[in-house]
Amino acid sequence: EELKVFCPATIANVSCGFDVLGLALDSVGDEMIVRKTSEKGVFITKIKGQQLPMETNKNVSGVAGLALLEKSDYQGGFEIEIDKKIKPGSGIGSSAASSAGAVWAMNQLLGKPFSNLELVQFAMQGEKLASDVAHADNVAPAIYGGFTLVRSYQPLDIISIPTPEELFATVIHPQIEIKTSDSRKILKTTITLEKGIRQWGNVGGLVAGLFQNDYSLIGRSLQDYIVEPIRSILIPGFDAIKINTREAGALGCGISGSGPSIFTLSKGEHTALQVADAMKETYKAIGVDFDIHVSKIN
Ligand code: HSE
Repeated sequence: EELKVFCPATIANVSCGFDVLGLALDSVGDEMIVRKTSEKGVFITKIKGQQLPMETNKNVSGVAGLALLEKSDYQGGFEIEIDKKIKPGSGIGSSAASSAGAVWAMNQLLGKPFSNLELVQFAMQGEKLASDVAHADNVAPAIYGGFTLVRSYQPLDIISIPTPEELFATVIHPQIEIKTSDSRKILKTTITLEKGIRQWGNVGGLVAGLFQNDYSLIGRSLQDYIVEPIRSILIPGFDAIKINTREAGALGCGISGSGPSIFTLSKGEHTALQVADAMKETYKAIGVDFDIHVSKIN
C-alpha cells in the first residue's frame, strides 16, 4: 500500500503574524511517496533534488513520522521517497513540507486515526529538528491547506481562515540560503508596548480583511514592525523590491518565513504576474539570481 502526495510550500508569518500566521501555496511543493512496511520504524529510502540526511533521526520526515508511530497502535512501519523541489533555507517551508507531507500520508494509509491538529503536533517535531524551535506556522497551513492562524501554542489551537477568491501570492527566492535557526538568533526577545500595539492591530486587520474580502484592508495590514527591520538586512534588494512591487500593484510585501524569499500578495493573477515582472527586473538590475513563483491561495 502506498500513497503519492503533494507537499505544499508555505509562507509563514505573513508580515505581521510572526510564528502564528501562515498560508499554503497551491503550485509550489515537493512530491513524496509513502509506503507501508512490515518492519516497524520509518525508513527514508530515496531523496531526489537535494542533498539531505537519509538517517531517520536526522531527517525531518523521519522524526515527524516517528512521533506519529509512537502514538499509534500500528505495528508496522513506513518507507519514504522524497522528490525535493523546495530548496532548504529558502524561507518557503522546505522542512515543513517534508514533515507535514510524511505524517499526512501516513495518517491516510492508516485509515485516518489522527486529527489534523494531532498531525500538526507530530510535524512540529520535524520543525524542531530543522530550526531548534517547534513552530507551527508552516506545518499548520501545509496540513490544513489555505490560510491558518496558530491562536495558541499551549494548548495548540489552530484556526482555518478563509481567503478572498482572487488572492494570489508572488514569491521570489534570491539564491542564498538562510537557516531558520540563524535568523531566529538575531531577533530580540522583547518588544516595546508601542510596537506591540501596532503589530496586533495589523494581525487583527489582516484576519478581518481575509474574512471580509477587503483587499485594501489586507494591504494596509501587511506590515511588520518587529521582525522585518532586523531580518531584512540579510536579504539582497529587499527595500527596492518592496517599493517596486507596491508600484506594480501589490497589496503588500514582506519576508517569507525566515527568508531570504520575499512574498507579495495581490488581487488577481494579472497583477500577481505584473508584480513578478517588477521583482525580476529589480533583481536583474542588481545582479541577483533568483527563482520566482506565482500561486493562487485557496
Ligand atoms: N515563524 C518562523 C520564523 C517561520 O520566522 O522563524 C520559519 O519558516
